[in-house]
Amino acid sequence: ASAQLAGQLSGQPATAQAAASASLTILFGSQTGNARHLAEALAKQAQGKGIVAKVVDMAEYKTTQLKNEQYLVIVTSTYGEGEPPENAIGLHNFLFSKKAPKLAGLKYAVLGLGDTSYEFFCKTAQDFDQRLAELGATSVLPRIDLDVDYQAQADSWSNELVTKLEPELKASAAPSAQVIAWPGSDATAGSVSQYSKQQPFAAELYTNQKITGRDSTKDVRHIEISLAGSGLTYQPGDALGVYFSNDPELVRELLLLTAIARDTPVTLSDDKLTVEQALTEQLELTQSYPAFVEKYAAATNNAALTALAADKAALRAYISERQIIDIVRDYPGLLSAQQLVDALRKQQPRLYSIASSQAEVEDEVHLTVGVVRYDAYGQPHLGGASGFLAERLAEGATLKVFVEHNNNFRLPANDDTPVIMIGPGTGIAPFRAFLQQRDANSAAGKNWLFFGNPHFTQDFLYQLELQNYLKRGLLTKLDVAFSRDQAAKVYVQDKLRQHGSDVWQWLEDGAHLYICGDANRMAKDVQQALLDIVQQYGGKTAEQAQAYLDELRVAKRYQKDVY
Ligand code: 2AM
Repeated sequence: ASAQLAGQLSGQPATAQAAASASLTILFGSQTGNARHLAEALAKQAQGKGIVAKVVDMAEYKTTQLKNEQYLVIVTSTYGEGEPPENAIGLHNFLFSKKAPKLAGLKYAVLGLGDTSYEFFCKTAQDFDQRLAELGATSVLPRIDLDVDYQAQADSWSNELVTKLEPELKASAAPSAQVIAWPGSDATAGSVSQYSKQQPFAAELYTNQKITGRDSTKDVRHIEISLAGSGLTYQPGDALGVYFSNDPELVRELLLLTAIARDTPVTLSDDKLTVEQALTEQLELTQSYPAFVEKYAAATNNAALTALAADKAALRAYISERQIIDIVRDYPGLLSAQQLVDALRKQQPRLYSIASSQAEVEDEVHLTVGVVRYDAYGQPHLGGASGFLAERLAEGATLKVFVEHNNNFRLPANDDTPVIMIGPGTGIAPFRAFLQQRDANSAAGKNWLFFGNPHFTQDFLYQLELQNYLKRGLLTKLDVAFSRDQAAKVYVQDKLRQHGSDVWQWLEDGAHLYICGDANRMAKDVQQALLDIVQQYGGKTAEQAQAYLDELRVAKRYQKDVY
């Protein structure tokens, strides 16, 4: 509540603020924090020019405010098949509904974040842009749609926008140099650490323990990392960002195939280093992306690959199953070390949902990491970050990490409120954190966990802890779905349906509902099960059931952390 109005921060009385000039509202739709960070950076830049600007999480935004806005910036990512991120769904629905107001006086700009590997690249940003225009608003700067490697372009777009807005929006107050806080920002969350995504902390790996059985089809690791001395703090629901180095074997093979000497000097973001260092520490090798294929095809003069790259749908299908090395194996060719480096994008840190509570583990942070490991095209493959954590990082060695706060996945403020947690596979992670927190608080609220995995004997992650919680009564109910222990598959949604009457009763008693894990299939199927339960036990139509879940979401009683 310290910064509801940016005007208060710049010390102007409300009346002077109204008289001085209009203000800028920056809304972010963010799943992993990138859009939030850009929105915050844009606000700081604007405030530095004396513009009154505020940042609002779309999930917190009062849609009744829209008609009062004069200058609006939307910064949003897109998710899955062109869907809005969780926190943007409400505003997106509202704007496309009959209730949306005419916005003739509004000036706006939209920045989209996305991934060109997906068909519906930046779809949500396009939606907002198109819809605001339909409602009569005027664009002040053309929308920009940015790929994973977005920072430089985002900075220059923000600069251009602030320069455009400055003459119209400059407040009479002098530029303020103070750090601006708003509800939900790291500053108001009490985060005082100097470490961030840009400046990660070198943390020590304490423990790397395989928690799936010898005969499991999966390799899941329980990872413990020390944050001692970092000042980094987190809450259950937050994620840990992890930087990693690539497999030296993979780098060696790539250099061999391209006949590049490992110590060839290259330039990367103005730094001079060897091609081997760049490939090992800085560049993305274990995920592939359209831009690599296009640039590599051009640099190697490969007509067949150039033709493939021209067909966007075929290209997406081709890269979806391949790492960079697979493409180079398929289409060997010669190019310079600098061309190779320029064709690759910079490594993005991976986010893992935190599996611990500081109330229990103090300055440690725990993760539940599913190791990506598969054979394809006659070769073994290993995930970048998960392979690094599981195979290449010795206990006692350091890795670079930061905390990514997620205010849209939080335990209820009231410890008496019941919670239903649905977390199959590594989706269990944040719920281990929730349970540790509720245990430490001696929270009276009931806790119901749904967990699923292939086999009871091999894949019951944190079995002893969970059964102990059940015995002690911290877990009120624990329902498990071991999908392959019987002839027909049993999934968490089957368990939900089986207990539909109780699920409905818990919801009616005010329970908060959480889903974590696979976004593509599991989260959708679970949502359908929930809709069916609300229909059946709440005596509602399909439409009413949807409205019921929407209301839960708006009330922050239905939260998802899915990937
Ligand atoms: P399966 O691999 O045997 O099909 C964690 O990955 C668990 O989620 C596994 O038991 C997996 O089962 C299961 N799972 C697979 N598809 C699912 C879906 N659509 N909904 C829920 N669980 C699913």
